[in-house]
Amino acid sequence: MILSLDQGTTSSRAILFDAQANMLSQGQYEITQSFPRPGWVEHDPLQIWETQLAAARDAIARSGLGAEEISAIGITNQRETALVWDKATGEPIYPAIVWQDRRTAEHCEQLKLRGLEQEIAAKTGLVVDAYFAATKICWILDHVENARVRAEQGELLAGTVDSWLIWKLTGGEVHATDVTNASRTMLYNLHERQWDEQLLKELRIPRVILPEVRMSGGEFGIAAAKWFGADIPIRAVLGDQQAALFGHTCLEAGSAKNTYGTGCFILMNTGTEAVASKHGLLTTVAWGMGDELYYALEGSVFVAGAAVQWLQEGLGLITEPAGSEHKAREVEDSEGVVVVPAFTGLGAPYWDMYARGAVFGLTRGTTAAHLVRATLESLAFQSRDVIGAMEKDAGMPLTGLRVDGGAVRNDLLMQFQSDILGSEVTRTTYAETTALGAALLAGLTSGLWTREQLESFNSAEKVFSPVMEAEERERRYNAWKDAVSRTMGWEKH
Ligand code: G3P
Repeated sequence: MILSLDQGTTSSRAILFDAQANMLSQGQYEITQSFPRPGWVEHDPLQIWETQLAAARDAIARSGLGAEEISAIGITNQRETALVWDKATGEPIYPAIVWQDRRTAEHCEQLKLRGLEQEIAAKTGLVVDAYFAATKICWILDHVENARVRAEQGELLAGTVDSWLIWKLTGGEVHATDVTNASRTMLYNLHERQWDEQLLKELRIPRVILPEVRMSGGEFGIAAAKWFGADIPIRAVLGDQQAALFGHTCLEAGSAKNTYGTGCFILMNTGTEAVASKHGLLTTVAWGMGDELYYALEGSVFVAGAAVQWLQEGLGLITEPAGSEHKAREVEDSEGVVVVPAFTGLGAPYWDMYARGAVFGLTRGTTAAHLVRATLESLAFQSRDVIGAMEKDAGMPLTGLRVDGGAVRNDLLMQFQSDILGSEVTRTTYAETTALGAALLAGLTSGLWTREQLESFNSAEKVFSPVMEAEERERRYNAWKDAVSRTMGWEKH
C-alpha cells in the first residue's frame, strides 16, 4: 500500500491506496482559518501536524491492515505557506503564514522599486508577489523577538508545509523540501538548481535555516515507527497543484490540467524546458525525478467556484452550487449575456487589480437562468484566457485538458469548456487527483509501478468533445474579451 498525505488549505487528508492504486480508506480533519487582521491568513502549525497525523492514523485503522504493509509515504501540500520553528524544541515561533496572506505586499513593492523584478523572474520563474514564501519567512524573522539573531546562529528552521511534516515525521532527522515547493519560495534558482545566494541576501534570509532541496521522487527519510506502528519511508514530496498534474498523468509536454476550486489552478507540462512567460504566467517545477527537472507553466483564475457561490449567497438564484446546472439548462443559451466575475481584479493574463465584475447584454427578456448560465460560462472563458496564454508561451498547442475539482460534475460547464477551447476535456475517474498524484510518484519511486502503468490508473470517466462551430466559438470568445476589456480599471472611477 501507499499512504498519501494531502495537507491542503482547508483540511488535512490521508488516503491509503492499494497496489492497483485503488483507494482503500481515508481520514480527514479540517484546518482552522485565522484572520487576525484584514489581509492576514494564518494556520496553527501544531494543528497542521496533529490533524495530518490523526488523518493518517484513521486511514490506516479503517483499512483494517497493518502499517508494515505500507511501502511508502507520498506527501503533497498547500504551497507557499511559510513556517519557522525552533530546531531544538520543535516549537513553532509564530503561526504559519498562509499563501493567501497579503501582509508582505509592501515589502514586495520595495523589491520592485529596488529593480529586482527582472532578476527574480529570470532566476525563479516567478513574479514578485506576497503569494510566495520568501517575504513571509522574512516577516517572521523581523517581527518575532530575537528571531533574526537566533536564525543566524542556526537555532531556527524554516520551510513550507512539506518541510514541517517531513521534519515531524522523521523525528527531526531530516530538514528537506522538494524542487516543486522550493520553486514557490522566490529563493530557488531554477537554472542553478539551488537556493540563490543573491536573493537570500536581498531578502535577508540566512541559508542555514532553509531545508535541503531534493528531487520530488526520492528519499526523504523514514517516518518513525512511533507514529504509525512501523517505519515507513517517505518517497515522494510535491506541491498540491503539481501533484494533481501528476495524478492526471499529464506526463507529456503539452498536457494540462485544470482544478476547479474557489479559483482555478491551471498547469501545463512543458517538459524538461523551463519556459519563460511573456503573458504573466509562472514558470514552475512540475516535478523532479532521477536527475531531471520537468517544468510547467501555471496560471490561476481568481474567481471560479466563488462565482457560483455568489449566485447562491449574493443573488439567491440557486440554493446549492450543484443546482446551477439545472437552472442553466432552463434556457437554450445565455442569449448574449456575459458575466465577468472580476470581483477581486483579474489574474493571468490580464493582471489588473482594478478590474471589477460586470454583467453585459441584459435585455427585458433576461432571466435568472441566463445569468446562471453566463456565470458558468465565465469559468470556461477565463480558463481559455489562461490556456491561450500558455499555448503562446510554450509555442505548443494544448493536447487535451484533464479536469478535477467540485465543478467538474457539471456536464453543461464541461461541454462548454470543451466547446470554447476547441479541444477535448477529460474528466477522470478519481476525484482525489492530488492525493493520487503523491501516491503515484511514491509508488513509482519505490519501484512498485512503472511509468506505463501509471497511465492506466486514472482513466477517463467521460470525455467531452467540442461540438460548437469554430465561427461561433470565436464570436463568443471575442464577445467575452470585449466584455473583459470594459471591466478593466473600473475601481479607479
Ligand atoms: O498555491 C496554493 C495552493 O497550493 C493551495 O491549494 O488546494 O490547498 O487550496 P489548496
